[in-house]
Amino acid sequence: MSFIRSVSAARAPRHDLYVGIHKGMRAFMCETLRRLGCMDPDDDVELAETLDGVSLLLDFCRGHLEHENAVIHPALEAHRAGAAQQASEDHADHETSLAIISAQIAQVRESSGCTRTRAALRLYRLLAIFVGENFLHMHMEETDHNEALWLACSDAELIELEHRIHAMIQPAEMALALRWMIPAMTPAERLAVMGPLREAVPPAVFESLLDDVRPHLDARALAKLESGLRRAA
Ligand SMILES: [Fe+2]
Repeated sequence: MSFIRSVSAARAPRHDLYVGIHKGMRAFMCETLRRLGCMDPDDDVELAETLDGVSLLLDFCRGHLEHENAVIHPALEAHRAGAAQQASEDHADHETSLAIISAQIAQVRESSGCTRTRAALRLYRLLAIFVGENFLHMHMEETDHNEALWLACSDAELIELEHRIHAMIQPAEMALALRWMIPAMTPAERLAVMGPLREAVPPAVFESLLDDVRPHLDARALAKLESGLRRAA
C-alpha cells in the first residue's frame, strides 16, 4: 500500500497516546542516523561516542516496544480480537532487527582499517532500513490504532493507559524521552506535557528535566515554553 494515501484529514481532537513519543522517536532516529552517516571510522573517540549513541537509541526502541506490548496491545485486543496482530508481528520483526544491528555495532567496534569502514557503512544501512520500517509502522499505529482506541476508550481511559506506561519507565529513560520529545513538539504540545509534569514531580526534578531539554530548544521555542509555564502557574 502507499501510506501517503492513508494520511487522514483533521478530526476532532482526542487524547493521542502516540503523537508525542513518536515525534520524539522520529527525531532521535533521524539524528542518530545522520551522526552515524558522517562518523569518521578512523577516529576512535568519535566512533565510540557515535556507537554509544546508536546503542542508546536501540535500548530506547526496545523499551518502547515493551510498553506498547504490555499496555496498548491488550487494550486493542480487548476491543477487537486481532486488532494488535499486525503491530505485534512488526514488533517481533523489530526485535530481530535490533539484535542484528546490535551485533553489527559489535562488529564495528572489534574491527579496524578498511574492514571497520565497510562494517560502519553496513551498520549505517541497517539502521537506515530499521528507521524506514519504523516510520511506516508508527504511521500505522497513529492511524489504525488510534482509530480503534478512540472507538473503544474514553479520553480518561486513554490517559489511564498512559499513566500505566509512565509507571513502567525509569527516571533516566523518562529524561531521555523528554529530551527528544519536547524539542520535536509544537509549542502547545510542549506545554501540555510540561505543565502537568511540573505538578507531578518535585521542583528540583522538574528543573533538572527542563535543564536537559533547554539546550535543544531555540530561543523562540524556549521563550514560548517559559511564558506558557508562567501563565499556567
Ligand atoms: Fe509500535
